Amino acid sequence: MDEFVIKGGNKLSGSISVNGAKNSALKILAASILSKEKCKITNFPIIEDTLRTVELLESLGAKAVIDKENKIVEIDPSQINKTDLDTNLVRRLRSSILFAGPMLARFGEVQMDHPGGCIIGKRPVDFFLDGFEKLGAKIKFTEEGFKLHGKLKGATIFFPQITVTGTEAMMMAAVLAEGKTILQNCAMEPEIPVLAEYLNKCGAKISGAGTSTIEIEGVKEIGGGEFKVIPDRIETGTFVMMGLLTGSEIKVENCIPEHLGAVISILEKAGAKLEIGPDYIITKPSKLKAVSIVTHEYPGFVTDLQPPYTLLMTQADGPCIIHESIFEGRLFFTDQLATMGAEIIMCDPHRVVVHGPTPLHGKKMTSPDLRAGITLVLAGMIAEGTTRIENIYQVDRGYEKIEERLQKIGADIKRVKE
Ligand code: EPU
Repeated sequence: MDEFVIKGGNKLSGSISVNGAKNSALKILAASILSKEKCKITNFPIIEDTLRTVELLESLGAKAVIDKENKIVEIDPSQINKTDLDTNLVRRLRSSILFAGPMLARFGEVQMDHPGGCIIGKRPVDFFLDGFEKLGAKIKFTEEGFKLHGKLKGATIFFPQITVTGTEAMMMAAVLAEGKTILQNCAMEPEIPVLAEYLNKCGAKISGAGTSTIEIEGVKEIGGGEFKVIPDRIETGTFVMMGLLTGSEIKVENCIPEHLGAVISILEKAGAKLEIGPDYIITKPSKLKAVSIVTHEYPGFVTDLQPPYTLLMTQADGPCIIHESIFEGRLFFTDQLATMGAEIIMCDPHRVVVHGPTPLHGKKMTSPDLRAGITLVLAGMIAEGTTRIENIYQVDRGYEKIEERLQKIGADIKRVKE
């Protein structure tokens, strides 16, 4: 297994470009199942999660052509001839649950294991199963997962809690259901309206995506289409915090600052000097003071940026509370920051108190999940001495060739093959 070896203390300079959003590309790949025609995706992030999802499509009989250099993937879903999803891939990918709706809608059945993925909380699938049942599917539980079958009919579904992939899954399933579906208490993340826009271009009838109520008028079939993946707002925020952590002036390019409203306002409140353009953010060396946060569904402070923000607060002046309201396992990585010298006290699984500023020292650590993993990389970049990070598959799941991109702006980071 590869590891990252990082020597801390370097100032960064220059520009870093943001790639296509993982959490948008994954949904378009799943949506491709709804049609018999080809789907072309550009600005496609070449990362473990998207590549494994393409493999999952191929394992069902779809044809895929990936042009890694130009970041284009073309899916031909016309030959899909299986409805049970590959156990190994499903166990690796939480987002494989997104295949259930389109498979059910197009083929009337799907069988899969309980999906795996990031260990950041319980991550059940009850909202999905309840939603599919409301749309008319029958559920049979198997030893390791479940089987869904039946012809889908429009229904009204109220999500008991806001769920991003739950909203997307029901929206996709309803596209081919008979009649009208109304989804209430929907997630509003930017990846949802762009998914709806793509599906509408292919012939679906969806309105309201990006608000809390979405209406879908079922159609008999949809065609193929082309989709350009939007910039990754989580990569954007991570790079901005990296600039602030290292006290560097860097330009984070090809992003949509508008998608990070809450994060930018908190960073500015903490004293961050940012120059914000239409598609870039420039960080300036800034003296930071501590500001507490509560993570929240969009447009609130996104949970995926809680780990790097927690690290940032170890370098800010004063105490603050980080309240992770979405996932109950997403603060445990702070133990590793504490071993590096951070002053962090866990109140309960959802809250830690951080008291900065504290110098950090290099350590040998293991990346527990994707967003905590990249945070440990950033911690290594500001720590005194050498940091080694194992289990970097977790970082590769979401950040493409991260070491090469960080080296280009001045970081001392190497991938070492064991
Ligand atoms: N939940 C349930 N039952 C369900 C579904 C969700 O109880 O059936 C709970 C979850 O346990 C959680 C809450 O509802 O407490 C909200 O979770 P949500 O369903 O919104 O999360 P998700 O759709 O599984 C997506 C992203 C995550 C991101 C969250 C929150 C994708 C593929 N994943 O997950 O991204 O953290 O929304 O914004 O879009 C990441 O990229 O690192 C990542 C984890």
